[in-house]
Amino acid sequence: MKRLDGKTALITGAARGIGRAFAEAYVAEGAKVAIADIDSARAHQAAADLGPAAIAVEMDVTRQESIETAVRETVSQLGQIDILINNAAIFSAAPFVEIDRADFARVFDINVAGTLFTLQAVAMHMIERGGGGKIINMASQAGRRGEPLVAVYCASKAAIISLTQSAALNLIEHGINVNAIAPGVVDGELWDGVDAFFAKYENKAPGQKKKEVGEAVPFGRMGTAEDLTGMAVFLASEDANYILAQTYNVDGGQWMS
Ligand SMILES: NC(=O)c1ccc[n+]([C@@H]2O[C@H](COP(=O)([O-])OP(=O)(O)OC[C@H]3O[C@@H](n4cnc5c(N)ncnc54)[C@H](O)[C@@H]3O)[C@@H](O)[C@H]2O)c1
Repeated sequence: MKRLDGKTALITGAARGIGRAFAEAYVAEGAKVAIADIDSARAHQAAADLGPAAIAVEMDVTRQESIETAVRETVSQLGQIDILINNAAIFSAAPFVEIDRADFARVFDINVAGTLFTLQAVAMHMIERGGGGKIINMASQAGRRGEPLVAVYCASKAAIISLTQSAALNLIEHGINVNAIAPGVVDGELWDGVDAFFAKYENKAPGQKKKEVGEAVPFGRMGTAEDLTGMAVFLASEDANYILAQTYNVDGGQWMS
């Protein structure tokens, strides 16, 4: 018996990176998965790679209509949604005096409002079904403290930690557990962009920032998407039934250092 046998999951931003690794791990644990992403071509490729247990769903978490369509489509193709991972997000960085309203609005629209209203739409489905569910939000170490050049992204992830607490306290009466994962530094395409930003602002050679942050992690290296999948499976499983409103660090010890 696998840990997610018979379960179905909707994972946003799962066309690549951490979300894709979650989708792969869920399929390996017996779940059916909807890979929901604004990058439809890559979502379809990921679903094809994962085989018949995965479907691709086009979804823009900033558009309410798109959220509702994605939820409807997932339910119609997979029968129900037992698990949601709010994983879609963008990174943004700028010196404080250069932050502009348009960038602030975009980051908060995707990272915060996208998470809140996807969570709401899936919670409504779970409540209507009456079978409870598991919801996992992607926070970050960036949500636990500010950083000099990363104010807006850090604030958006702090909001995720807070939303996780409020949603969890309200939704547990319906048997819905809401928790979050706070990774540290995870190598992948998002971090390629971070590295390029610091190359520009701190005059570093390409790859230098990644090397430095990896060495600063007590574990001794940056994380991989696969380092996070154990926590994502655990929080979606029956083993986590008594756990709610928590944000778990999966960061190689970074937060303690
Ligand atoms: N990579 C890290 O070091 C790190 C660290 C801490 C937290 N996180 C968080 O983990 C999650 C995944 O990170 P990642 O490194 O895999 O990022 P990524 O940039 O590789 O993937 C993000 C995915 O979200 C999708 N997306 C973007 N905007 C969207 C929208 N409006 N609607 C739907 N999908 C959209 C993208 O197309 C992409 O497939 C994010 O929430 C991120 O903030 C990442």
